[in-house]
Amino acid sequence: MTATIIDGKAIAEQVILKVKDRVSVLNEQGILPGLTVILVGDDPASQTYVGSKERTSTRLGMKSDVISRPSSLTEDELLALIDDLNQDHSVHGILVQLPLPKHMDEHKILQAIDPRKDVDGFHPLNVGKLLLGQQGFIPCTPFGIIQLLDYSAIEIEGKHAVIVGRSNIVGKPMGQLLLNRHATVTYTHSRTPDLAEFTKQADILIVATGQPSMITGEHIKPGAAVIDVGIHRNSDGRLSGDVDFASAKEVAGALTPVPGGVGPMTIAMLMENTCLSAERALRT
Ligand code: GUN
Repeated sequence: MTATIIDGKAIAEQVILKVKDRVSVLNEQGILPGLTVILVGDDPASQTYVGSKERTSTRLGMKSDVISRPSSLTEDELLALIDDLNQDHSVHGILVQLPLPKHMDEHKILQAIDPRKDVDGFHPLNVGKLLLGQQGFIPCTPFGIIQLLDYSAIEIEGKHAVIVGRSNIVGKPMGQLLLNRHATVTYTHSRTPDLAEFTKQADILIVATGQPSMITGEHIKPGAAVIDVGIHRNSDGRLSGDVDFASAKEVAGALTPVPGGVGPMTIAMLMENTCLSAERALRT
């Protein structure tokens, strides 16, 4: 079997076009959805992500600001900055790029963001709402993965979804979203013995381990949908994921590439969440 390649770039473009229409409606009412990204330090990968978020939001007719600060910024200074943005009515979305420098308490910082502007969905209130199936903000990467599955007409209800990785950004919310869509969900992680025994049972396999090419064709059930969240730069400069693409595509039924799979969706969903925040602000 050769897998159907899920074109995340094309699907992200479709999502973005729909957001663009919603932004136009807001613009007609005098609202300019505003996203502010805070970048602390000079991590090159973070700088790349932030650059593409800024380009996309500008293209959509949103107000886009990036606040860059050196890694010497204190926690109190960052909290003060967040407080200013919480009060600023022209800002609908606040995103603090992770990881933060080690001297900062990530939980404390994320908790300081007004949950109504928490377009990352990382505030405990939004995490709780996701758990309860209430409307809040859904973290962008897992939200994007659900869109990839839906646009590709991959059924979720009643399927066995296996998640490899249990981060707060991807693995944990991913399982919750799939559960809310009536999948049977298994979480696996770095301390799961005999990982393949679990992954081979997956109809939908989500891989977010941060380990290059950790999942190969031997871990995959024939015909499964495999979503690769990883992104790594190889020594030859090329990008690859947590899944060994060459062997996986011979076994999987559908597979996301790296690049051009999950990555563009994360940005598209950030735009959607920012637009949603502006729509909600108009209603209250
Ligand atoms: N770093 C890696 N992924 C993310 C994300 O989705 N949001 C934020 N804020 N930081 C990240």
